[in-house]
Amino acid sequence: EQLFADDIEAILALKHKHDAVILAHNYQTPEIFHGVADIRGDSLALAREAQNIKQQVVLMAGVHFMAETVKMLNPEKTVLIPDEMAGCSLAEGITAENVRTLRARHPGVPVVTYVNSSAAVKAETDVCCTSGNARRVVESLGVPEVIMIPDEYLARNIENETGIKMHTWSARCEVHERFTPPEIRQYRRMHKDSLHVIAHPECAPEVVAEADHAGSTASMISYIENNHPDKVLLITECSMSDNLSTMFPDTQFVRPCNLCPHMKRITLKNIRRSLETMSTEVTIAAEHQEPARRSVERMLAL
Ligand code: 13P
Ligand code: SF4
Repeated sequence: EQLFADDIEAILALKHKHDAVILAHNYQTPEIFHGVADIRGDSLALAREAQNIKQQVVLMAGVHFMAETVKMLNPEKTVLIPDEMAGCSLAEGITAENVRTLRARHPGVPVVTYVNSSAAVKAETDVCCTSGNARRVVESLGVPEVIMIPDEYLARNIENETGIKMHTWSARCEVHERFTPPEIRQYRRMHKDSLHVIAHPECAPEVVAEADHAGSTASMISYIENNHPDKVLLITECSMSDNLSTMFPDTQFVRPCNLCPHMKRITLKNIRRSLETMSTEVTIAAEHQEPARRSVERMLAL
């Protein structure tokens, strides 16, 4: 803890000096999540909270598409990301040109885009979704088929839940695509009936089928709050179990987990530097700002 104390103290002072707020995704390391963040949550909670920010400076302890969403909703504020290279295999897996091609292939079919996407892709979108509201967003459209991009697995999992036909894209989360059914079965054999398995819907449908519950990182927290399991296997990024083991000391968190190299680019050191230098500032191309913001606001209005 002493290791982090200097940086935490400096960051708290810098926040005060610059009237800054720090948003942190659930996959940030505990010293960031518990040490310096003001607002914590899943992608949906962070987007919702971004609508009500009073401070002039917002630092995103998360990946680039999350910072872009904050900037879209707060064009007049300074939005900082400590490392611009904090990307996402889903956001990088599709371009605006790809979306136009899909629309031409399926005329009249609405485009639902996972928030794990660039502003340019959101600008081509009818409505965004997160893993926390994907089912609600898709069902709200009242149509038999949807173009759901870019996460192939999220789209397949929502198709299985709703029966609505999905035209998908081939991008995947490099963290969640690595989990396999045999891996989960082996943990079940080791821990018998006491183990509750919770999977993220960015996992393959065969993996989700092995779980007791599937949902966003916020829904994982609700599941534990409501069910008080003795032992939990979270099929997701490693920091999730690290952060929750502090919040739920009576629950044992069984690993395995996979690290997200993009989330892990954010550190106390670069948060401190970011607030000292007011960089790197996130910007949205003028032509994407309004159409991208509309697709996010449509989601938040639901
Ligand atoms: P949620 O926190 O919305 O479940 O998203 C998970 C994720 O992989 C974010 O990059
Ligand atoms: Fe992207 Fe997956 Fe990392 Fe989330 S965990 S930022 S979806 S690569």
